[in-house]
Amino acid sequence: MIRPYQPTDLEELKRITALCFPNVSIDRNIEEKLGLIGGHDWMWRKLRHIDNDVAGDNARHVFVWETDYHEVAGYITGRTDIDSKIGWIPNLAVAPDHQGSGIGRQLIDHLLQHFRDEGMECAKIETLAQNAIGSTFYPSMGFQEVARQVHYVMRLD
Ligand SMILES: CC(C)(COP(=O)(O)OP(=O)(O)OC[C@H]1O[C@@H](n2cnc3c(N)ncnc32)[C@H](O)[C@@H]1OP(=O)(O)O)[C@@H](O)C(=O)NCCC(=O)NCCS
Repeated sequence: MIRPYQPTDLEELKRITALCFPNVSIDRNIEEKLGLIGGHDWMWRKLRHIDNDVAGDNARHVFVWETDYHEVAGYITGRTDIDSKIGWIPNLAVAPDHQGSGIGRQLIDHLLQHFRDEGMECAKIETLAQNAIGSTFYPSMGFQEVARQVHYVMRLD
């Protein structure tokens, strides 16, 4: 079942994030090209995004999937913008042993309804070209591709 995020879920969200994002993370791509930056690895950076996603009022837009055994199997994070009316989905992950059983789809549906309830008129999600799931999954849920962006990074030393 889907329920609102609670602060006690944070470590589980981070555990799932660590399992899910090694092949689909900009931070990982940066580390592969440039090595460690500031003594921090890509996982440190990625997990910091999760800290931001649950910080303060952002936590209201985070939902988790809890199994019958009270395990967190997945999560989705959101942001709303009452001026632009565009809700944003920064992060979505389902633990590998629970993937492919419809949890991701239900989490997105749930957050989309939450966005409607919050007065949003559009929802936005981003994915990397290297993430095969994005090119089929999101369009199948009704999202339309509107732009492609290329990220560049350089060392300053
Ligand atoms: C993306 C993710 C959240 C999907 O969650 P999920 O619970 O596995 O997804 P669902 O079971 O609801 O399936 C949704 C769609 O994903 C695709 N999909 C799911 N598992 C798949 C697999 N093993 N291989 C290929 N496509 C798959 C299918 O298109 C599926 O649609 P269908 O129901 O019509 O078959 C999950 O795979 C994940 O955490 N991936 C790693 C992190 C990630 O990529 N996050 C998104 C960043 S933009």
